[in-house]
Amino acid sequence: MRKALLAVLATAAVLIPATPPAQAGDRSLRDAAPRYLRIGSAVAGGGHHVDQPYPDPFPNDRAYRKVLAREFSSVSPENQMKWEFIHPGRYEYHFGPADAIVAFARKNGQVVRGHTLLWHSQNPDWLTEGTFTKAELRTILRDHIFTVVGHYRGRIQQWDVANEIFNENGEYRQENIFIRELGPGIVADAFRWAHQADPRAQLFLNDYGVDWPGVKVDAYHALAQQLLAARVPLHGFASQAHLSTRYGAPDQLAGVLQRFDDLGLHTAITELDVRMDLPATGVPTAEQLATQAVYYKTVLDACLAVDGCNSFTLWGFTDKYSWVPVFFPAEGAATVMWDDFGKKPAYYTLLRTLARA
Ligand code: G3I
Repeated sequence: MRKALLAVLATAAVLIPATPPAQAGDRSLRDAAPRYLRIGSAVAGGGHHVDQPYPDPFPNDRAYRKVLAREFSSVSPENQMKWEFIHPGRYEYHFGPADAIVAFARKNGQVVRGHTLLWHSQNPDWLTEGTFTKAELRTILRDHIFTVVGHYRGRIQQWDVANEIFNENGEYRQENIFIRELGPGIVADAFRWAHQADPRAQLFLNDYGVDWPGVKVDAYHALAQQLLAARVPLHGFASQAHLSTRYGAPDQLAGVLQRFDDLGLHTAITELDVRMDLPATGVPTAEQLATQAVYYKTVLDACLAVDGCNSFTLWGFTDKYSWVPVFFPAEGAATVMWDDFGKKPAYYTLLRTLARA
């Protein structure tokens, strides 16, 4: 472990400029990226933000929106398209906040990643606590997918159709109400319905903890093969890539993505952040920032190494709005910018790596 860390720091010393690289000029991440690769960010709102001492970020923070427009060519609603947010009553949909993000994206030449249609978390009480027959539950999911995907037809580049459907042992998550009640076959139906509702959207499997080879990746690979053999419209596999410097940098990620590329699928990085244990001062050391930059670069390099990896998204770009300190006490500083949008070494490393790609 110590050896691995020293190797990381040695690489960091070579790769991480202490100051902005002169050649970076005024380029943004989206400008520096190769044309085929979308560089994205989650759009802050809903979820943990609701309990924070600041107004709803996306509609209220102009400086935030300016950076979002300048730096990114793809946006992912962080919570605004999740069931509890967009479908608060059985016959009630709440599209306003997600519509605003989709309109913003259009205005700024960005694509949108839709997140998410079939998940065990952030479902409304009317769904999780209601009493439904199997047939009703199936109709509820079908109607949700046709309504939401249909509402944004032609305006979403990629949908995370199935999110986090396997646990760490590669078994279907029984917390997912649809999988538990209707069986795993419902996953194929969700893809079929999403495709009917928007034939142009690329439809993805998405999960965390799939940055290394292992049983969870194997489970997704087997499922992908099974779906493709049954001619289910599956188009991609994505790693969320929520990383921590407590664990090693994912240096086998390219190999994982390549297995899915070999099946003819797109791949993507959808929620990248790299958290760290904060010192008592609350301010990361230069060494910690250098290590973090190496992790970000490791993930970008993996995506760049795989032909069909066409989307590279950060789960937020500023610590100001990151979910990390809310979920992991004493950890934080996980994004590429400080609260005031000042850029960290990780930002410059991504910029330089994209410019060279
Ligand atoms: O549902 C409870 C509610 O009953 C309670 O009154 C309230 C009080 O705090 O909390 C509510 O839960 C919140 C939840 O969103 C639902 O809105 C949590 O506190 C809040 O922390 C949570 O945050 C979101 C989280 O997903 C939920 O899993 C984050 O904003 C969002 O960034 C995060 O995003 C997920 C991706 O969608 C999927 N991959 C992992 C990623 C990070 O967790």
